[in-house]
Amino acid sequence: MPLDSYNRDINYLRISLTDACNLRCVYCMPEHMTFRPRDELVSDAELRRLITIFAKTGFRKIRFTGGEPTLRPSLVDLVRHATQTAGIESVGLTTNGVLLAGLAAPLRAAGLRSVNLSLDTLDADKFRRITRWGNLPEVLAGLDAAAAAGLRIKLNAVVSRGTNDRYDVVALARFTIAQAWQVRFIEQMPFGNNAGFQKKSMVDEAELLSVLTEAFGPLELVDGGKLDGEARLFRIPGAAGCIGFISPVTKPFCADCNRLRLTADGILRLCLLRDNEADLRPLLRGGASDDELAGFIHEAVFQKPWGHGLAQDVMSVSRGMSEIGG
Ligand code: 5AD
Ligand code: SF4
Repeated sequence: MPLDSYNRDINYLRISLTDACNLRCVYCMPEHMTFRPRDELVSDAELRRLITIFAKTGFRKIRFTGGEPTLRPSLVDLVRHATQTAGIESVGLTTNGVLLAGLAAPLRAAGLRSVNLSLDTLDADKFRRITRWGNLPEVLAGLDAAAAAGLRIKLNAVVSRGTNDRYDVVALARFTIAQAWQVRFIEQMPFGNNAGFQKKSMVDEAELLSVLTEAFGPLELVDGGKLDGEARLFRIPGAAGCIGFISPVTKPFCADCNRLRLTADGILRLCLLRDNEADLRPLLRGGASDDELAGFIHEAVFQKPWGHGLAQDVMSVSRGMSEIGG
């Protein structure tokens, strides 16, 4: 079991399959974005090998992210490999849903059980404005396909002041009345060049809770407030699903952090919001044995910093969210 120097059990690897995306969410990236050339990405064979080594090292959970992971042609095969790897108990996918309509059934057949879909609004015009290129009906078709395929569903909305902070939040939360989904609201985190804008327009959990209480009456706390992953869960009384808050800015969950991230170009990112990294490529491409790679992973886990420094205004400058994997 990989314990870090603060005794946290680090057993969750989030793998970015590409830094590219088929949307251009305004809070995430500029419209004209350059992505890494394909040959700089970790190859499928390298990823399969790494997944096996991480599992042997004690990792239990894998999530594929991006950029947009559905842009990687081998996604279904990689999901199958991960679900069939001894020791891996849970495989997840975070997607913008644009390509999900065609992929939900094959992903389910490959062993995927649940999907996290990013959806900030149910208003098609606003969706286009937020994502610059997005077509809401495509994403809703993806959502339907995921439900039809029997995937468990979590919706993730990043809330930005003046964009989707009231009506949209209520409309998304209303889904949970009839659907056994989690609808989760994420506090916008500051990254690199975009940090000024992101800090100014962040809407915190306390404010969202009061918006939702106004709309639905008092929400019930689920599980006494114990975090489900990184989300604190509430329920509209009698609802089938839950409303979650992911509040890295106002309620950091660093003490419970159990994850490392692998960037699409093969670097272990030790904290989402700090620039501490461990480059796997020299070993991966230099003929290292599985044991040497496992040793490197243990060492990286041990180097994992305690938590983010947003309160001290320390933030990630070297990479944005889409280059790390959310
Ligand atoms: N803060 C919080 N979440 C973000 N995402 C992208 N940028 C940010 C940010 N600055 C979210 C996306 C998606 C997930 C991969 O990360 O909306 O839900
Ligand atoms: Fe793409 Fe996700 Fe960034 Fe939007 S937030 S541009 S969907 S990576």
